[in-house]
Amino acid sequence: MPAQPSRILFVCLGNICRSPLAEGIFRSAVEKAGATDLFAIDSAGTGAWHVGNSPDPRSVATAARHGIDISDQRARAVSSTDFESFDLLLGMDRSNVATLHGRAPAGAAHRVHLFLDYAGIGRLDVPDPYYGGDDGFEIVYRMLQEASDALALKLGARGASTPSSGQASSIT
Ligand code: 4NP
Repeated sequence: MPAQPSRILFVCLGNICRSPLAEGIFRSAVEKAGATDLFAIDSAGTGAWHVGNSPDPRSVATAARHGIDISDQRARAVSSTDFESFDLLLGMDRSNVATLHGRAPAGAAHRVHLFLDYAGIGRLDVPDPYYGGDDGFEIVYRMLQEASDALALKLGARGASTPSSGQASSIT
């Protein structure tokens, strides 16, 4: 049985709004499943404008309302080594995915996917909430929560604390 992808990089444009939320939500799901040791989880941006910055305060507040602390995260840009270091690079929207495909070295394009599509939710973008109001962050949170739960199930994180842990069905 092929090994499950376990090194997951969530990618958006700035790495201050969507992908930090995705990282925090998926990390929380994996922790709840007792599967922390089985996964490496990170996030990055295709752009470098916010490198070193904390997540957007609206993302921090939205996560906090749901009991998740993402305040320690710091933005970084996607690097060429990410295409080796991670099994999956999950873009928040089709623009992110197109940028990643343009940067992917030969043989690494299969690691790049649209997050909600890969999670089985549908071929949907997670909308960029940066220029909108606070309600956009809650909408994004709910999309990411649903996709994160589906991803955890797909990758076998659910029930990872049981004896059959890590042996969930293979992915395509
Ligand atoms: P993110 O949102 O890609 O979800 O982090 C954005 C953050 C910053 C900018 C655009 C999108 N910006 O243009 O600075």
